[in-house]
Amino acid sequence: MEKKTGLHRKDIGLAIIGAGRIGTMRATLAASHAAVRCIGVADTDAAAANKLAEACGASIVGSDSLEVISNPAINTVIVATGEHQHVEPVLQALNQGKQVLVEKPIALKLADADKLIAAAAQSSGSLHVGYSRRFKRRYLTVKEQISRGRLGSVSGLSARIYNSRAQVFQMLKRDPHATPVVDSLTYFVDLLGWYVPDNPVIEVWARGKGGTIRKAGFDCDDVTYAVLTLADGALVNFSCSFALPDKYPSLGYCARIEVIGTEGVLMIDDDHLDQIMYTERGIPHIYVPDVTVNMAFLSSSAPGDWVGGDFWGPLASETRNWLDFVATGRPCALATPLEARNNLAITLAIEEAVASGNTVRLPETAAAR
Ligand SMILES: NC(=O)c1ccc[n+]([C@@H]2O[C@H](COP(=O)([O-])OP(=O)(O)OC[C@H]3O[C@@H](n4cnc5c(N)ncnc54)[C@H](O)[C@@H]3O)[C@@H](O)[C@H]2O)c1
Repeated sequence: MEKKTGLHRKDIGLAIIGAGRIGTMRATLAASHAAVRCIGVADTDAAAANKLAEACGASIVGSDSLEVISNPAINTVIVATGEHQHVEPVLQALNQGKQVLVEKPIALKLADADKLIAAAAQSSGSLHVGYSRRFKRRYLTVKEQISRGRLGSVSGLSARIYNSRAQVFQMLKRDPHATPVVDSLTYFVDLLGWYVPDNPVIEVWARGKGGTIRKAGFDCDDVTYAVLTLADGALVNFSCSFALPDKYPSLGYCARIEVIGTEGVLMIDDDHLDQIMYTERGIPHIYVPDVTVNMAFLSSSAPGDWVGGDFWGPLASETRNWLDFVATGRPCALATPLEARNNLAITLAIEEAVASGNTVRLPETAAAR
């Protein structure tokens, strides 16, 4: 159950912790939200903090997250640091009763996720985790159809995601544990739990095949295939490869999802083959600095796109939904910390199954909302 905050028409003083790619998008979006009165920015890289502060009109800026979070004008915090740097600033903010949004994955270890869940339960603030796929319209509408029971009972789901290796190197350089499974397939694991919250994953079988990513010096497979069993026997098939050539036209995810129910079937084509651009002048990759492609699937960037200096797409809708929740108490569709922990447990189980060659059993705990 969503914890009630009792907030209504609250003014927001927002701290952005981590002035990288996603922090910059969130800050740009938040700066024009009607309830946001003041912005603070912290980054251990002082130059990055100053650059973003100037761009979004922040009045508080520094390289120490605790100092910025503790400023009395700040009541709300977005943590957009790298995956292994989420825990400390989230704890700092929750311990001071602030409302917190942290980027996925909640943490890289289950013990850290548990620490954050405990801190959120003790806090007068709140914690949500950004899984921005939920806010892409084609995935959002599926949630509605499945919750209305129009497919009957879900007996099978398959999801396949592809990306170019240009992006996987960015993720693995930031943190070698931020693999495509833990960092990216997690969005689709999240969708599964969101679509069928009362049917938890109980068993995971998976295999991986190394290749070009390993040759580049990272301990990560090119291809991972997994079969998951849910509590009622329904089956899920996940496949994931972020080893497509550097210049593959994906600027983010190319995906396909199919859901089979007892009363219907639903297919989502998210490969973006419907919007292709080719230019001799090169199109900059939204996430990977210095990479340009000649051909691009234009709407394939996961968070969305810059247009005319503003940011549009799933990350924009997600940021607005969360700021609206903080300001007015309206319902919030972001993941709860428990759901995020569940996603982490499943992705780690997939990696464990690949590494050990064994089937991994998970405790039968539904991700209570
Ligand atoms: N929702 C989406 O579409 C989406 C897309 C990409 C990444 N992400 C997630 O967003 C998060 C950030 O990714 P990114 O690509 O913006 O990373 P990034 O590397 O571009 O930026 C991270 C920033 O955090 C700063 N930092 C590190 N530790 C800090 C600390 N203790 N205090 C303050 N600043 C600190 C770094 O200096 C860096 O500027 C990750 O969790 C990632 O998985 C989400």
